[in-house]
Amino acid sequence: MKVRMRVNGNQVERDVPADRLLVDFLREDLGLTGTKVGCGEGECGACTVIMNGKSVTSCLIPVAKADGAEILTVEGLAVDEQLHPLQQAFLEEGAVQCGYCTAGMLLSAKALLEENPRPTVAEVKKGISGNLCRCTGYTKIIRAVQVAAERMPKGRG
Ligand code: FES
Ligand code: FES
Repeated sequence: MKVRMRVNGNQVERDVPADRLLVDFLREDLGLTGTKVGCGEGECGACTVIMNGKSVTSCLIPVAKADGAEILTVEGLAVDEQLHPLQQAFLEEGAVQCGYCTAGMLLSAKALLEENPRPTVAEVKKGISGNLCRCTGYTKIIRAVQVAAERMPKGRG
């Protein structure tokens, strides 16, 4: 089957098997390997991307369901080689260790800030509750999301 969608602002069109998953489409067909695969079962959040403004676990989504969608992956966060404020804050606050969770964490945080530009600690925790990190203990990640939120104009996730 043929699927068409916008990924990081670029229109793409590919022939794919009907059972292709969105995460495999992004990583293997488009070469966007910043999106990671952890559990493959919707539990870890490593594969999180933004689809039509909402964070989704791309390991659970058949690519056919993304036909016509607007997708943002971690590769689309930086603009003109300028890191997104979330990426910058993650670096500064030490919120990246092994990095396996980072792409998914950033996209969940971005979706959160689009809905709630100044989240409390509890709200950040809830916003990233679907993303597991085995390294940081979450405190630095939560801090980084709040630092980024303070730097971003309201309404610009
Ligand atoms: S790989 Fe998709 S949620 Fe774990
Ligand atoms: S930085 Fe290693 S899993 Fe989060």
